[in-house]
Amino acid sequence: MGGPDSSEKLTELFSAERIQARVRDLGQEITRDFQHRKVVLVCVLKGAFLFFADLVRAVSLDVEVDFVRLSSYGTETASSGKILFGKDMEIPVAGKDVVIVEDIVDTGRSMVFLKNVLQARNPRSVSICTLVDKHERRIVDVDVEYAGFRLHEGFIVGYGLDFNERFRYLSAICTLEQGAPPSANDSGA
Ligand code: IMP
Ligand code: MG
Repeated sequence: MGGPDSSEKLTELFSAERIQARVRDLGQEITRDFQHRKVVLVCVLKGAFLFFADLVRAVSLDVEVDFVRLSSYGTETASSGKILFGKDMEIPVAGKDVVIVEDIVDTGRSMVFLKNVLQARNPRSVSICTLVDKHERRIVDVDVEYAGFRLHEGFIVGYGLDFNERFRYLSAICTLEQGAPPSANDSGA
């Protein structure tokens, strides 16, 4: 069940141990930066669910937690792709410090949308904490205050990140390559 098929190749990029170490660091940074503040940590579903679950326990503050779901209207790659809420927050954010917790920032569109919408609700601040900050396809400028890992390019899965809803359960983050040539002992017969 659940593994890659023969045309897919998973290669470990960030081990579970490295991820856990970075999550602890990020938790400490956020703890330091928001002493005596009213902090709301906002999980961007679904990709950030494991990162979020670990991060909230690495932050030593009396935080509130909430969840949003974003959907992009049209295709992921279309430059006109419009972002919408699948599910909005429930907790009011006025006067509070909001930290958006995202799996990966790619074109930047999702985070620009969410930051703008939340900023209009008069929080004290809005910042972004992403597990992975991926640069190659960035289209819109967005400030990322906290990043676990920086990556230039490549498609990654695991630790919440998916390919068509698969591979979210992996404890490590792996690159996923499609159309890998059959291995030597796979004659195809
Ligand atoms: P963007 O920054 O608005 O382009 O959107 C980022 C979203 O695209 C992320 O939240 C992911 O859901 C998805 N995404 C981008 N790159 C990857 C990847 O390498 N693996 C899995 N999902 C990705
Ligand atoms: Mg996502």
